[in-house]
Amino acid sequence: MAKILHKPQFIIIIFLLHFLTTIHSKPFSRNLSEKQLSFKNEKQTHLHFYFHDIVAGRHPTAVKVASATTTNATRSLFGLVMVMDDPLTVGPEPESKLIGRAQGMYASADLKELGFLMVLNYYFMEGECNGSTLSILGRNAALTAVREMPVVGGTGIFRFARGYAQAKTYSADYKSGNVVVEYDVFVLHY
Ligand SMILES: *[C@@H]1O[C@H](CO)[C@@H](O)[C@H](O)[C@H]1NC(C)=O
Ligand SMILES: *[C@@H]1O[C@H](CO)[C@@H](O)[C@H](O)[C@H]1NC(C)=O
Ligand SMILES: *[C@@H]1O[C@H](CO)[C@@H](O)[C@H](O)[C@H]1NC(C)=O
Repeated sequence: MAKILHKPQFIIIIFLLHFLTTIHSKPFSRNLSEKQLSFKNEKQTHLHFYFHDIVAGRHPTAVKVASATTTNATRSLFGLVMVMDDPLTVGPEPESKLIGRAQGMYASADLKELGFLMVLNYYFMEGECNGSTLSILGRNAALTAVREMPVVGGTGIFRFARGYAQAKTYSADYKSGNVVVEYDVFVLHY
């Protein structure tokens, strides 16, 4: 063997073998007791805020990024994809106190009626929620009085979050397309 392999190659092979056995000997998962993460008491939180989807004017917070050649020919704008960084405020007025932002996208995903696929994170910036996020993934039939979307997870104070968000259109300017939506979000988290 020594004849075939030169010294540096030997060292590399020994190093690789050592590396591989080290990886194999360390388990990649382990069981945790309740105490170890101190996740014992599940909390319930209700959040209430207004979502401003500003598509018109000089400072839009939601922009179109894609559409199909057939999008305009459908009543539901099928294929339209928008990316948003929409303000979340305490009250419905645009100048109301900002508590977070809704960052993500919505895509028209229903051939017949207005039905958006919502994929977004609420990023909170206020009080004990500051820095924490909640992730939403759901269907939003925007013309329905109350829409419900699942909360699929969260970070920060919302780790392990699950729950639901209910949306009600507060005001809609059909000329500009700007919409204010009232949200009630109910979450279980630790
Ligand atoms: C974790 O818990 C399960 C179920 O109690 C048990 O079967 C498994 O062996 C445990 N794993 C480790 C790494 O302790
Ligand atoms: C669809 O309509 C919008 C708004 O009227 C327009 O800006 C866009 O160019 C149209 N797209 C196509 C593919 O015709
Ligand atoms: C939120 O957290 C950031 C980063 O830690 C900090 O700079 C900011 O002042 C905090 N905002 C509020 C309203 O507490």
